Amino acid sequence: MGSVIKKAVIPCAGLGTRFLPATKAQPKEMLPVFDRPAIQYIIEEALASDIEDIVLVTGRGKQAIENHFDKSFELEHYLKERKQFQLLNNVERIAELADIYYVRQKQPLGLGHAISCAKSYLQHEPFAVFLADDLIYSKTPAIKQLIDVYSKYNCSVLAVQEVPKDKISHYGVIKPVKVSGNVFKVEDIVEKPAPENAPSNLGVVGRYILVPEIFDILEKVQKGKGGEIQLTDAIKLLLKTKPVYAVKFSGKRYDTGDKLGYMKASIEYALRDKEIGSKLKGYLKTL
Ligand code: G1P
Repeated sequence: MGSVIKKAVIPCAGLGTRFLPATKAQPKEMLPVFDRPAIQYIIEEALASDIEDIVLVTGRGKQAIENHFDKSFELEHYLKERKQFQLLNNVERIAELADIYYVRQKQPLGLGHAISCAKSYLQHEPFAVFLADDLIYSKTPAIKQLIDVYSKYNCSVLAVQEVPKDKISHYGVIKPVKVSGNVFKVEDIVEKPAPENAPSNLGVVGRYILVPEIFDILEKVQKGKGGEIQLTDAIKLLLKTKPVYAVKFSGKRYDTGDKLGYMKASIEYALRDKEIGSKLKGYLKTL
């Protein structure tokens, strides 16, 4: 049976300034985390959750992402001739992964604005949002865990995790009321509060299921934190008319938008690899 959520949007227009000079001529979403670009893990998570249509919101200089998910005739021909079938299979598979659409965010006006750029693809049904910096390694894909909660309550769902006090001001933070186990009803949400004003220790990480009503709200939202149109502010307004839930997902999340988080992800994904995992572990022990 297909998923109730069929579409997803992935904002990819950020300039990646935290990773300069690595991101001077290539998109940060294309930086490899172990053996594949970070964005490929996100697309694989969507597909593993039966999401079929994916819209990437890109910007100038992001063509490498489109090329990565396209067929590469020269490369495939070259690998065929040399009978490198394993590699060929790998390369062909990437192009067949999903139906991907691209829309441009012409100005960097924030996450809320990026989502609204995909309105014409998404406005008729609930959809998923993936933030490409957040990789989540888990048995059940994180977005699938949100979809399961959506199926039960039929309303927007946010992924949350416990965040230490000194990091809480980097997140959208919810005021939760426990519903059951790891599911909460959201009473309020604040973008990047000072630790003393945070309504809880539950920070939003980059997975959301949103109802299409969010688009009308996004059009009205004023600039918020950092002078940007914040998705969090739109969700806060949505709460006035529609319930929103949150789920403390199970899985390990990596913030690859941060240099240390990026290195942790690269190393841990490599450690899980059958071929080189144990050798890498042995090497790390010698350091
Ligand atoms: C964004 C959101 C924030 C969320 C975070 C998760 O912030 O605005 O609410 O908690 O992603 O990664 P950013 O990290 O883009 O500044």
